[in-house]
Amino acid sequence: MTIQKATNITWHDGEIKKEDRERLLDQKGTVIWFTGLSGSGKSTLAHAVEDKLFERGHLTTVLDGDNIRHGLNKNLGFSPEDREENIRRIGEVAKLFADTGVIAMTAFISPYRADRDKARSLLNKGEFVEVFVQVPLAVAEDRDPKGLYKKARAGEIKEFTGISAPYEEPLSPELVVDTSKLNLQQSAEKVISYLEEQGIVKKV
Ligand code: ADX
Repeated sequence: MTIQKATNITWHDGEIKKEDRERLLDQKGTVIWFTGLSGSGKSTLAHAVEDKLFERGHLTTVLDGDNIRHGLNKNLGFSPEDREENIRRIGEVAKLFADTGVIAMTAFISPYRADRDKARSLLNKGEFVEVFVQVPLAVAEDRDPKGLYKKARAGEIKEFTGISAPYEEPLSPELVVDTSKLNLQQSAEKVISYLEEQGIVKKV
């Protein structure tokens, strides 16, 4: 629970609403929340979806765990508390983008269900699309793109998700994409088709 520290603050709404921005951009401001193990393909998939949407004239952004931890969240590590704060901030930032009419994709392990649900609760129904990027741990570990699983197995990295820290699978995500069964093109198409079905972007 994050304590509200500031007092004497007043909320101020502008004249331009989310719907106005959505009309301008011809899309629905949405958060697409990719969650899964390190090495599951979250960032790769988010960027592939972004490439396709950009080609179709959509305004998107990708918030990526490793990048955000270089800046906004550089003071956070991987304890449960720090991961919670990491996801809390990202949830708020993603909401700001969605309220601006942007399709904001987040690629964080986000291992705790409660933290993901809190991010979801910031948005209206339909504005938060949870995508479980599912691969067996053995596949992620075999890929080991950054050599971190090897280090985690050797005890050089503590609290590593899947090895020495938990990953709580989503119970009812909007989408499940198994990147060990679908190639990148197919995975991205699955996400785009969902966005079309939901009217978040128009069919082309
Ligand atoms: S989260 O758990 O708080 O959502 P986040 O997605 O921001 O994690 O960062 C995960 C990335 O940090 C991994 O892809 C990996 O590159 C790196 N990393 C470094 N240490 C750890 C660790 N102990 N557990 C998981 N990922 C780690």
